[in-house]
Amino acid sequence: MKEIIPSPPPVVRNDVAAVQALFQKNVMPTYGRFDLALSHGSGSYVYDVTGKRYLDLGAGIAVLGLGHAHPAITEALIEQSRKLVHVSNLYYHEPQGRLAEAIVNLLGPGKIFFSNSGAEANEGLFKLARRFGHDQGRFEIITALNSFHGRTLAGISATGQEKVKKGFEPMVSGFRHVPYNDLAAVRNAVSPATAAVLIECIQGEGGVTAATPAYLLGLRKLCDEKKLLLFFDGVQDGYFRSGRFQCFQRILENNPAGSTFLPDGVSMAKSMAGGFPMGAFWARAPYADLLGPGMHASTFGGTPLGCAVALKVLEVIQNEKLADNARRIGEFLMTGLLQLQAKYPGVIRNARGLGLMIGVELAENVARLPGDPSKPQAGRFVPMLHAAGLLVIPAGASVIRLLPPLNLRQNEAEEGLRLLESVVAKLAG
Ligand SMILES: Cc1ncc(COP(=O)(O)O)c(C=O)c1O
Repeated sequence: MKEIIPSPPPVVRNDVAAVQALFQKNVMPTYGRFDLALSHGSGSYVYDVTGKRYLDLGAGIAVLGLGHAHPAITEALIEQSRKLVHVSNLYYHEPQGRLAEAIVNLLGPGKIFFSNSGAEANEGLFKLARRFGHDQGRFEIITALNSFHGRTLAGISATGQEKVKKGFEPMVSGFRHVPYNDLAAVRNAVSPATAAVLIECIQGEGGVTAATPAYLLGLRKLCDEKKLLLFFDGVQDGYFRSGRFQCFQRILENNPAGSTFLPDGVSMAKSMAGGFPMGAFWARAPYADLLGPGMHASTFGGTPLGCAVALKVLEVIQNEKLADNARRIGEFLMTGLLQLQAKYPGVIRNARGLGLMIGVELAENVARLPGDPSKPQAGRFVPMLHAAGLLVIPAGASVIRLLPPLNLRQNEAEEGLRLLESVVAKLAG
């Protein structure tokens, strides 16, 4: 393999401005980007074009489950690409069947549809709900305020945040938003047209808020009672990030009802193939055949290449017990963050999350934070962390998210806490 895996190219262009100019001229300005141009990475570290090294605790927004440039991913890509990169879904191939089997074994009796992204996985759930309710004229899906379900038109319609909808109205009809973790609000929103309920078990973009066990159990009961499908968007919080395959399994693990609990559909994406684009949704057995031949499709869904990489990612996660690592290192980080919060209450308001999905909320009006005070605090804090050599992800106005690789090491977690403290201490004065 060595002859075709050269080491990362040397940094030949150390000019961020030149890379930015290429974007300004040629790439649509849909993203608010930070002033960083990245060049290559290794494990939990990534390097910019000037050669500066960063500890990457954002991991491509929860995508790089095995970190940057993991050799098992490189090898799986090379090995499979020598055999079959792509075949149409008009034919069978083994990697897709084997990956579907592995996910079903991790979740429960049901079937999988493969997509390319999280938004596309959720679109599949929306269509499943419509198909399920179609003959009784039921089509509405209840989602939560502050949720995030993707940027397609139905995705922004499902998302419970006005800012993603603005300028794109009218929305796709049939989505109702209710306060999160409020079972009575869901019950009151059910109408004769309701077909499904969709929530994130930890709201990610909304600021890292976890569902309570009572909420999940209550939703299951309500959905059974009203004959609604219960869907979880596991795009960000799933795939072992919480310390279990899916986040509901973690939230309910100490609950007597947890061992038999199943939702009716789960979407996933992000870290499925460790950075190779891949998404999927699982539907529980009684509903898994609702979408029959010709009803749903995706050209690039479940290609041999994507599935081979995803199978390899699963193998590494299981062999190296990375779910346990996510739990252990997550707890270590959380303890350290709570100590920082106690030491610097004027800068950190709290830390919350499960496993390696952690939100750190800034205190109100952190006095020394540089930048325009009318701009969100998180967006002004993150560049200070960049300067210190740490990448994290803003979530909402005042929260930063830590979503590191699942194989983050203890010494890297310690380094992350040290870098964070170096910035927080400056702000505390
Ligand atoms: C919970 C959740 N759902 C859906 C999506 C959309 O996924 P994608 O960007 O792959 O379409 C995201 C992306 O951040 C997400 O966090």
